[in-house]
Amino acid sequence: MIKDNMDDRIITNNQIDGDEAENSLRPKILSDYIGQDKIKANLSVFIEAAKKRGQPLDHVLLYGPPGLGKTTLSNIIANELGVSIRITSGPAIERVGDLAALITNVGEGDVLFLDEIHRINKAVEEVLYPVMEDFALDLIIGKGPSAKSMRLNLKPFTLIGATTRAGQLTGPLRDRFGIILRLELYTNEELDKIVRRSAKILDIEAEKDTSLEIASRSRGTPRIANRLLKRVRDFAVVAGDSGIGLKLAKKALDSMEIDNLGLDFTDRRMLETMIKKFSGKAVGLDTIAAAINEETVTIEDVIEPYLLQLGFIARTPRGRVAMPLAYKHLGLESLISGQQVGFLE
Ligand code: ADE
Repeated sequence: MIKDNMDDRIITNNQIDGDEAENSLRPKILSDYIGQDKIKANLSVFIEAAKKRGQPLDHVLLYGPPGLGKTTLSNIIANELGVSIRITSGPAIERVGDLAALITNVGEGDVLFLDEIHRINKAVEEVLYPVMEDFALDLIIGKGPSAKSMRLNLKPFTLIGATTRAGQLTGPLRDRFGIILRLELYTNEELDKIVRRSAKILDIEAEKDTSLEIASRSRGTPRIANRLLKRVRDFAVVAGDSGIGLKLAKKALDSMEIDNLGLDFTDRRMLETMIKKFSGKAVGLDTIAAAINEETVTIEDVIEPYLLQLGFIARTPRGRVAMPLAYKHLGLESLISGQQVGFLE
């Protein structure tokens, strides 16, 4: 389970307690996977071609904000290829020996899923290059002058690397992936479909308006949508309702301090800090992080993608700037200064 300092946020994109049941909601085949249409279309071609050729699929790099379905997609790829999948993460492979133990047990054509691949250590990464390129594991046996190098031939397999930050991968590692796919935040319509699908699986009666309400407060992220669905159900259970109606859903979401666009306390605090404390001027990421007491990675990976998509902030060479739409959303139009006026319609 992945933990971070935002686990108290209902809106966190990271996995938190209670999300394990999410597994039952995960689609198993590509045609059940909602959204990411371009990725799906391309992947189905690559998968079919690999199967026709009788060769393993080329290595795949999936990147994008957390909670968008990188693990789900990897499981689907393995399933569609008809192979087994082994799942691990960059930080879990501490030494070259860990990688060797893992990789020598991967069957021909199987998938090895390496989550958080940007956090793999340098020594392991260097061993990974010939593994990916030639399916060869170069090991050094012994120490000092008597050390010997040994090459182990591996069965060809597919490495699927997942990362929230492709920019942090070294060039040589990125170049060894034949297929690089960037996952985008989902639209409200796609999330609505996901919520309705999940409600059906969880046997929750949800009206169309209700699922769309949950969807539109889920920051473009299926993991959040599924979590909010379950929390709204909690409110319905306590209220003695058999299904989840729009009125109850709105009340539940409001009481969790998730506003009509899905922003929570932390998002609003960041925007208010930029607008009020820093007078709407460009502010560096580190400065914002220190001011709101969050990690810079959390801001970059979790908070910013959605605010950028909404057009609430902009990244400039001098730092982050809050945009007029953010001022309007927070009811702070009166604070819009000369530098933002130009952006107003
Ligand atoms: N559950 C989580 N992500 C999903 C997706 N993209 N499609 C369908 N169900 C999902």
